[in-house]
Amino acid sequence: YVIGIDLGTSAVKALLVAQDGTVRSEATREYPLYHDQAGWSEQDPEDWVSGTIGALNDLLASSGVSADSIEGLSFSGQMHGLVLLDAGNSPVRRAILWNDTRTTEQCRAIEGALGDKLLSVTRNPALEGFTLPKILWVKQHEPAAYAKAASFLLPKDYVRLRLTGAVHMDLSDAAGTLMLDVANKTWSDDVLSAFGIPASFCPPLVEAGAQTGTLTAQAAQQTGLAESTKVFAGGADNACGAIGSGILSPGLTLCSIGTSGVILTYEADASADYEGKVHFFNHGQAGAFYAMGVTLAAGYSLSWFRNAFAKGESFDALLEGIENIPEGSNGLLFTPYIVGERTPHADAKIRGSFVGIDGSHTRAHFARAVMEGITFSLNESIAIFREAGKTVDKVVSIGGGAKNPLWLQMQADIFGATVVSLENEQGPGLGAAMLAAVGCGWYADLASCGERFVKHARTYEPNEEASRTYARLFDIYRQAYGHTRELN
Ligand code: XUL
Repeated sequence: YVIGIDLGTSAVKALLVAQDGTVRSEATREYPLYHDQAGWSEQDPEDWVSGTIGALNDLLASSGVSADSIEGLSFSGQMHGLVLLDAGNSPVRRAILWNDTRTTEQCRAIEGALGDKLLSVTRNPALEGFTLPKILWVKQHEPAAYAKAASFLLPKDYVRLRLTGAVHMDLSDAAGTLMLDVANKTWSDDVLSAFGIPASFCPPLVEAGAQTGTLTAQAAQQTGLAESTKVFAGGADNACGAIGSGILSPGLTLCSIGTSGVILTYEADASADYEGKVHFFNHGQAGAFYAMGVTLAAGYSLSWFRNAFAKGESFDALLEGIENIPEGSNGLLFTPYIVGERTPHADAKIRGSFVGIDGSHTRAHFARAVMEGITFSLNESIAIFREAGKTVDKVVSIGGGAKNPLWLQMQADIFGATVVSLENEQGPGLGAAMLAAVGCGWYADLASCGERFVKHARTYEPNEEASRTYARLFDIYRQAYGHTRELN
């Protein structure tokens, strides 16, 4: 067996996976988030460690397999979170997470100091969620904590340090720091020197599939696993989500609809230029990259709608009858900007809208319009890829948006692409397990592991007429942003 540990924002989930890719058992432990001030989002790294140990104990207990039959483990991690460590590798303060937005001033400073190098070297715009602005914030606002800091890690790297005693960061996660030269896979001297950050501050870089050690005697005793268990670096959650969904060769795109939504496309090399309109990160597959656009309120828009207008009802009840409503919801259009938008607008202030309300519209029209609006927003990312010359004709769809056949068909119609759903979809945790499976030598590479572990369920082809209708409405959808931004 191998174990994939998915260190998320609300919980850590561990999967026990057999050699043929079957998930034998899973265990989850939750931990708190701290929002001490508006826009702040922090976690205690110690909670990640005890949660991970607890989940591994539960996994062993519920599966009944012997520790000796578990060969290796690896990680998927929430990205960008800053764990500042002192010279003895203890955290100097709580971790500042990816969804913390206190760093707007530092982002502007980064843009000013780096100019064109920001995009040419880091391949990404300066966003509040990324790690470098968080380091600069601590330097400015908590000089005593900063003075104690000798290095930094990202969330899953800290947990791995505690399990193995070794300090590493993998490239797919390092790509989200704004300090990595993404194409050359090294820490960027340009970025570090611009902010007076010494090279010793940055951990050694490894590929996501690299073995970084085995368990310490103490970690073996705490988790119940064997000391000889091989520990592999693991990757960023989006990279592991891509691996676990089989996005491992050119021509494949991922659509993931959770609270937020992601459109992610495989890049065989770093040559594509999306002008910073989408994220560009190193893949967990050595040598590859991925580009990614984010819709902030994807599933969240539908949960908001249910909580506001159908509290206590199931999603099935909420969506009852929407199959009888034609494409375009009889003229009702929704923009899902209810917490601002990342791609393509990078606008934290914009808010959502319903446009075209008619006296004949029912709640079902509104529910359908919400699903269409979320899918239009995701299609904006696909449009950016296509406008840069990329072919998007096959999309693997996962998450809440893949649970409803009508939504999958809607994705095919709006994206104008074949949409494929997966059997027993497991997301990033499975990607982490695949890194361990390949590391243990079970498969020659991730692609051949994916052929075994990732199974396609159903295929949805775009309906020509529906696609034409949606293409016309997508043009109107794109204009709604400019017409509604002055509302707030
Ligand atoms: C990616 C991002 C999120 C986190 C969630 O840029 O901010 O997807 O990785 O864990």
